[in-house]
Amino acid sequence: MIPLAKPYIDEREISAVVEVLKSGWLTHGPKVKEFERMFAEYIGTKYAIAVNSCTSALQLVMEVLNIKGEVILPSFTFVASANAIVTSGAIPIFVDIVEDTYNIDPNKIEERINKRTQAIMPVHFAGHPCDMKPIMEIAEKHNLHVIEDSAECIGGLYNNKKTGSFGIGCFSFFPTKNITTGEGGIITTNDDSLEERIKILRAHGIPSMTHEREKSKKPWLRSATEAGYNFRMCDINAAIGIEQMKKIDDMNKKRIEVARYLSKKLTNNKITKPTIHKNCRHVFQIYVIMLDTSINRIDFIKKVMEKDIQASVHFDPPVHLQPYYTNIGWKKGDLPITEHVSEHVVTLPLFPSITKRDLDFISQIINSILA
Ligand SMILES: Cc1ncc(COP(=O)(O)O)c(C=O)c1O
Repeated sequence: MIPLAKPYIDEREISAVVEVLKSGWLTHGPKVKEFERMFAEYIGTKYAIAVNSCTSALQLVMEVLNIKGEVILPSFTFVASANAIVTSGAIPIFVDIVEDTYNIDPNKIEERINKRTQAIMPVHFAGHPCDMKPIMEIAEKHNLHVIEDSAECIGGLYNNKKTGSFGIGCFSFFPTKNITTGEGGIITTNDDSLEERIKILRAHGIPSMTHEREKSKKPWLRSATEAGYNFRMCDINAAIGIEQMKKIDDMNKKRIEVARYLSKKLTNNKITKPTIHKNCRHVFQIYVIMLDTSINRIDFIKKVMEKDIQASVHFDPPVHLQPYYTNIGWKKGDLPITEHVSEHVVTLPLFPSITKRDLDFISQIINSILA
């Protein structure tokens, strides 16, 4: 089976993990600090704070910003984006998407803003940046926070600026993402006081890291200044992340080449191939096509899978039609473009090490199924 995704791991990650295991220092230590430094430098922010998932990252950001009102976001995303809002005690307000990139439609944001609105959470779907200029303008006009869910977009550019550097960025290092640490996430920000509070809250509300305390006169003092969590990243994960960061440009370049090749080889006009806006770099965390309404998606995916090619859907159902969210009042018809896109998209295999032979096979099978 040609898988949908495959982490790009080699001996370098393996020896980095072994080195950490032998070092005796397994978590919240020097490797995490080094990974954070590399990530902040890559994104172009003053800080990056590593945590154990993007969901934890989103939740921490909601908490440090003290958001208990409404947050505007797309429904065409993984449920974690909205869950982090709900679990923080805030209210998700879903807005429809644009038809080409499937990202939040900036023109539909303002009509949902009211006095309870506190933040906008753009989600950079599949590796294509959202239209950040109008989003930042709306946020500034209404004095709203911008929390970028950049789980699916590590290295994507909008007007030559990396996603995650416009507002507060949250990233995921799940194995299908542009880089992986197994499980993991990170928050990017330029704000000194946010960085400080995020660091405190991720580790039980205690401001100092254990390996830093060891150097102090009273290393046993673990004084909590807040009631925090344990959202720490392990040094084992961070060591993988450091090696992945050394390869990120190469991996993203390969992803872009694979996408370009697939888009060239898929010739049937019953599918819409991914759009790339001129002012953006799309880093293709996944490769998503849209089928013409005349094609039965279930049959199509079945035929593709029968040829040992994995295919999937991101995302169906959209978040607002999942049971928890329909129970709080969302219903079919609320977001027509999201619902249409969700019914017709298909995700095809894309990962840095996929071979040209596999890509030729995938495109040949798909072209013949559609013919
Ligand atoms: C858009 C989006 N947000 C959040 C997440 C959650 O990331 P994690 O699995 O690291 O918590 C994902 C991961 O699938 C995602 O795609």
